[in-house]
Amino acid sequence: AATVGAVRAQDAFPSQPITIVVPFAAGGPTDTVTRLIAEPMSKELGQQVVIQNVAGAGGTLAAGQVAKASPDGYTILMHHIGMSTAPTLYRNLDFDPVTAFATVGLVTNVPMTLIARKDFEPNTLEELVTYVKANKDTVVYANAGIGAASHLCGMLFMNAIDTAVTTVPYKGTGPAMTDILAGEVDFMCDQSTNTTGQIKGGEVKVYAVTTPERLGNLPDVPTTTEAGLPGFQVGVWHGLYAPAGTPEATVEKLSAALQKALADPTVIERFAELGTAPVAADQATPAAHKTYLADQIALWKPIIEKAGVFAD
Ligand code: MLT
Repeated sequence: AATVGAVRAQDAFPSQPITIVVPFAAGGPTDTVTRLIAEPMSKELGQQVVIQNVAGAGGTLAAGQVAKASPDGYTILMHHIGMSTAPTLYRNLDFDPVTAFATVGLVTNVPMTLIARKDFEPNTLEELVTYVKANKDTVVYANAGIGAASHLCGMLFMNAIDTAVTTVPYKGTGPAMTDILAGEVDFMCDQSTNTTGQIKGGEVKVYAVTTPERLGNLPDVPTTTEAGLPGFQVGVWHGLYAPAGTPEATVEKLSAALQKALADPTVIERFAELGTAPVAADQATPAAHKTYLADQIALWKPIIEKAGVFAD
């Protein structure tokens, strides 16, 4: 009878609202991407999809919580590249990204933009490099904590120019952007999904995009290679996770809803306006996501170890 009950419970999934935990503050890039796919996913699943922001420790707080959530598909996690950098960055992480989750599917790979407060002196990437080197004791870089994409990008930038500066951590780049706009901090590397509006509105300075090609939504912004820092490239891949032990049929249903959402013309259009695109359909699957996560952990490990930045 227990087996029959379990099978029925799976068949009935979802019979209550689903919560997607976002590991950064509301209004930021991860939140934006999640909210865009939540509505079409909700339609496909026939249930409400609720977004919960659990910000802290560069995204690892939320990941740790969802790792320990009931494996029933009702509490899932949107996370990004931080899932692959955290195991090297954090010496005492209380979960193993590979074994603590069932991967649901990849979502998008978001370009980053190097931006600054509007009245920050340097006007080009070349000037920024010179300025940061000359003023390394006073310039301030904003990020969303160790493990955030903005942290990783800042680390890569500082490595590329061989200069470390003061960093101020926020609960997400949403609030960090507020302080950039207020002139409280100087510069930041942040996802196009959070910076496009301010760049287009002329509210921030932009130096470069961290992709091999220019972005369709910001065609005037040079790539890091064009602007003089070849090799300084990073994309912020996102994926959906359920706690390990979630029934396969439930994970498959969530994955099918994700695939449907990513094929939604409104989602594709909104993503494009923000400088990104859904992953190819065959990447929004549990298997492709699992392989990609393992590859990314292996990719970033030596880079982070060389940079020597760790959190406890
Ligand atoms: C956010 O949603 O605030 C960002 O993804 C933070 C980051 O990783 O830089």
